[in-house]
Amino acid sequence: MHLTKEENEMLEGKYGYPVQKSMEILVGLGECYDAEKMIPVASSHTGGSAVMNGKAGCLFIKEMAEKSGVFLAFMDTNPSGIDPFLWREIGIPEETNQEQMAMSNDLVKMGAFLGNTCTPYLIGNVPVLGQHVSWTESSAIIFANSVLGARTNREADPVPIAAALTGRVPAYGYHLDQNRLAELRILVKAELKDLHDYGVLGYFTGKVAKDKVPALVSLPPSVSWDALAFFGAATATSGSVSLYHMIGITPEAPTEEAAFGTRRIKDFPTFEFGEKELRETEESLSKATTKEVDIVILGCPHASIGEMKALAQLLSGKRLHSGVEFWILTTEMVRSYAERMGYVHSIEKAGARVLSGTCPINMPPGLLKKQGHRTVATNSAKMAYYIIGVQGLLPYYGSTQRCIDAAISSVWR
Ligand code: F3S
Repeated sequence: MHLTKEENEMLEGKYGYPVQKSMEILVGLGECYDAEKMIPVASSHTGGSAVMNGKAGCLFIKEMAEKSGVFLAFMDTNPSGIDPFLWREIGIPEETNQEQMAMSNDLVKMGAFLGNTCTPYLIGNVPVLGQHVSWTESSAIIFANSVLGARTNREADPVPIAAALTGRVPAYGYHLDQNRLAELRILVKAELKDLHDYGVLGYFTGKVAKDKVPALVSLPPSVSWDALAFFGAATATSGSVSLYHMIGITPEAPTEEAAFGTRRIKDFPTFEFGEKELRETEESLSKATTKEVDIVILGCPHASIGEMKALAQLLSGKRLHSGVEFWILTTEMVRSYAERMGYVHSIEKAGARVLSGTCPINMPPGLLKKQGHRTVATNSAKMAYYIIGVQGLLPYYGSTQRCIDAAISSVWR
């Protein structure tokens, strides 16, 4: 791997221990993937939960901070293990709060912005077309690569930290043009009525694409960022897809020819997504059978201000069942706008909570089960998939309206 004079000096320790250690990690990674050189990064997005990072991850961050590490690239964080305002009310243990505060403080010491969200692109971390970044969080990675046209691999910590401390990543994988071309087609024939339907399409796409780059054909150019966030999160859940193209929508695919490059499109497989696939994929994610719903979770990925407005309207004047907990997940920034606009008031009046900066997948495992919950209703394919393993709850998966109806009656219909 070719290193510049400055990169060699980093490796030799001229710029201090955190930079040296980070360069060792990045060179090791680059050599694994036959990277020829390092490239500069515009931003990093790292794991924000002390629970998810575990003891080793927290110790690494602590050591880098104590040895005066400074982030050279803009750095923000994925959801933390706690809601900074409601952690006691929702039953987060004191010890989790302490560990979270310690890790967050170490990240801030090095210059991180505690965005604590899986939608960093909604709160100011918005790389542009062709920019290289080093992001963790599958739903954010796929959004950055596909919708923004930025370039990142599917990183896991400590890579984004090492990248921000050195301002570099090894050039391999999705950083390179040749790995960004489409490898299969998904022909969309079903009518997609709401955000949830885009999640179902995403789950189907991830299943058939696995780790390849799919090209989605026949989607309306008016598709919203919210729908793309739902689609991407689900695609990266059922497969390890980190980049997709939507023909005529995403920036690297104005046409099918652009998405596939100089290769013959007919040499690649086509999968159809019709009403049958929509229905079967949706049904496959519901694993609960009792019909009773204990908790409803929306806002995965974290809700945008547009989703908050829509949810406030749907919940306005409603009264949720007293036995059903109802969480809407969002960022601290969006929550504060939603508060000023009166959306939080309407949501809370109905009996729901707006949690910020966290999500159940980043909280202590099994917490919700210990609290007596057994079933969850959600409009998110990602939440339906992961909550089984992390929190031990069985999901019902359906549209936002269906989830709200379940929260009112406590029954899934
Ligand atoms: Fe975000 Fe948590 Fe869902 S990180 S994408 S709200 S599982």
